[in-house]
Amino acid sequence: MWYPSLLVSADEAGEREVDNMHHFMEYVFEPRYKEIKETINPPPSKPGFKKIKSCGLTLAEAANLLMRRTPEDATEEEKLTWVKYARDVREHAASLYQAAREQNHSKVVATYRQTIGKCNACHQQFADGKYQLSP
Ligand code: HEC
Repeated sequence: MWYPSLLVSADEAGEREVDNMHHFMEYVFEPRYKEIKETINPPPSKPGFKKIKSCGLTLAEAANLLMRRTPEDATEEEKLTWVKYARDVREHAASLYQAAREQNHSKVVATYRQTIGKCNACHQQFADGKYQLSP
């Protein structure tokens, strides 16, 4: 790990939301999704894998931020579900990042599909079933 002892919490560090959820999705998540989708087939060469690598890492880290942004009106149970979807996106996007590092196309495709599956699962529950993204 990069941080063997994490001395401050995100609150103590002054982490804050810069804009609302809609714009977070539209300008952080959506462009990464679209870029992967455009690049993934046919199997890319090195620059293509590099693009996917960048998008995978960005999505994984953005999912870390997403975890803390539970909807205000959510019940405790819904908040736990929200966090779980965000964590699932982080894990699959992290695997996508690793697969792109290895330039392993079949693994890239599999982990990309898993990632989108979790995006959609959260949208199903928390965005009234809208935004069902096709991988
Ligand atoms: C933990 C829940 C959650 C996860 C995980 C999640 N989203 Fe979202 N997403 C939302 C919510 C809530 C909205 C609706 C926001 C609104 O309009 O208020 C949304 C909306 C969107 C939209 C529509 C934005 C627009 O401009 O209309 C896109 C595109 C999107 N998400 C992409 C993604 C992608 C890609 C992923 C996965 C890599 C993802 N989301 C994962 C909660 C989530």
